[in-house]
Amino acid sequence: MSADAWWKNGIVYQVYPRSFQDSDGDGIGDLRGIQKRLDYLVELGVDAVWISPIYPSPMADFGYDISDYCDIDPRFGTLDDFDALPAECRARGLKLVLDFVPNHTSDQHPWFLQSRAPRENPKRDWYLWRDPAPDGGPPTNWISNFGGPAWTFDEATGQYYAHSFLKEQPDLNWRNPEVREAMYEVLRFWLRRGVDGFRVDVLYHLVKDRLFRNNPPNPAFKPGQDPSHRLLPLYTTDRPEMQDIVVEMRRVVDAFSSEDSARVLIGELHLPLERLMAYYGRTPEGMLEGVQLPFNFQLIAAPWHAAEIDRIVRNYEAALPHGAAPNWVLGNHDKPRIASRVGQERARLAAMLLLTLRGTPTLYYGDEIGMADVPIPPAEVQDPFEKNAPGLGLGRDPQRTPMQWSRAPAAGFTQGRPWLRLADDWATRNVELQRGDPDSMLSLYQRLIALRRNEPALHEGRHEQLDAGPDVLAYARSAGTRRLVVLLNFAETEMTVHADLLPTEVVVVASTLAGRSGAVQGELVLQPLEGVVVAQ
Ligand code: NOJ
Ligand code: MG
Repeated sequence: MSADAWWKNGIVYQVYPRSFQDSDGDGIGDLRGIQKRLDYLVELGVDAVWISPIYPSPMADFGYDISDYCDIDPRFGTLDDFDALPAECRARGLKLVLDFVPNHTSDQHPWFLQSRAPRENPKRDWYLWRDPAPDGGPPTNWISNFGGPAWTFDEATGQYYAHSFLKEQPDLNWRNPEVREAMYEVLRFWLRRGVDGFRVDVLYHLVKDRLFRNNPPNPAFKPGQDPSHRLLPLYTTDRPEMQDIVVEMRRVVDAFSSEDSARVLIGELHLPLERLMAYYGRTPEGMLEGVQLPFNFQLIAAPWHAAEIDRIVRNYEAALPHGAAPNWVLGNHDKPRIASRVGQERARLAAMLLLTLRGTPTLYYGDEIGMADVPIPPAEVQDPFEKNAPGLGLGRDPQRTPMQWSRAPAAGFTQGRPWLRLADDWATRNVELQRGDPDSMLSLYQRLIALRRNEPALHEGRHEQLDAGPDVLAYARSAGTRRLVVLLNFAETEMTVHADLLPTEVVVVASTLAGRSGAVQGELVLQPLEGVVVAQ
């Protein structure tokens, strides 16, 4: 394996730290809890763990509002607790990826407290301050991603500050070289402590229009949709200046890469395909100088039909710059869970899709046991997104409920009272029960992960899209002389695979149904909603 193989060929597992494992009974997951569960990640077979923010934070947006980039929030533990992690991960062959949140700080960060101080101060220009519009209103029409204006008036200094998210999350001014350097120093701080990379929060947001122009209306917007989509984010996201910043950021991280282990940047980017590709940072000479993995969220948004996914995979493969590493994601802490989007049975097909496509898969904690969204009664809502825009189904609490480990009280997540309610099914859907059950989602994930690891065709092989009719998604993965064909039946009826697609004898090496394996002669019949991997 080459130095960069781990992030190209491995599997990333996302931990939402509040909800993974509590160790001290306060009902909030923490670093010692994560450490205790590293062996589970090894058992599952993943290669890297990405932990959502763990830094000191007033928790207005559950850690995405950071008041100190270089420490650990006491709710999650101490810096000493953190320092145990890189070595514990290394001992198990796991890589450790942190969340880096460069677009905004907390309004309680000392930089912002100083920036808003009512006098000339050296930190004023670290954030985006503007005079009111002539009518006294906000300087532009920009809207926050959580609803409402992206500007908040500061009485003391008579100006507005910009915030792409909550007013408690003021946006940093990335045009200021001091800000850039301070943020790169944050990366170095954690790299020195042994982390293997970062998932970079809303990377495409960092730079805003120099002229502060108004965003145009979005002609496709319909009432009832996410209110932040009312305008096209032309002047607030993906500005041309981003390209240099991405290259700079990559250089900072590359300086810590060694022969046997590359450091990686995974960019959170919600952009159309061809703009997403720009973040690989391809030079005219064909070098890729940007983020190694610009997150590809298309499976999260996809209507769940074979033809639709076929189109997505083809277009993505075709759009990748030469040498760029693909990646795929089924779920995260911001979007409804896969089991709720498509149902348990189809979620098994989705697992096979994610783990057999070409490109680094990222798994969201709990999806491997089929955890579903949990309806949260209004009185228990925690997520500010839901509080700001109630009733639109935008709240993210449902997909952030505590991990279901066992039949112990509170599903083994905490000795105390969980910060967010558990799913009703925790006593019957948990790791302990699924472990020994070959039919379980967990066993399916384990089988598929092991297959992906053992088969170069799957983790580093070529990809070729096949045509198996409207309801069957089909592709081949191959390395050397080994050729595996993946067939995913999206129909609720049996489907017979065309004889011209496969040789007369194939070997089923994996199925979404337990117990199906071995040689098949003649026609291959797929059960309703069955996915198989066959070798020929
Ligand atoms: C994207 C994160 O994934 C989300 O959880 C957060 O609220 C916003 N960025 C703001 O940081
Ligand atoms: Mg705790």
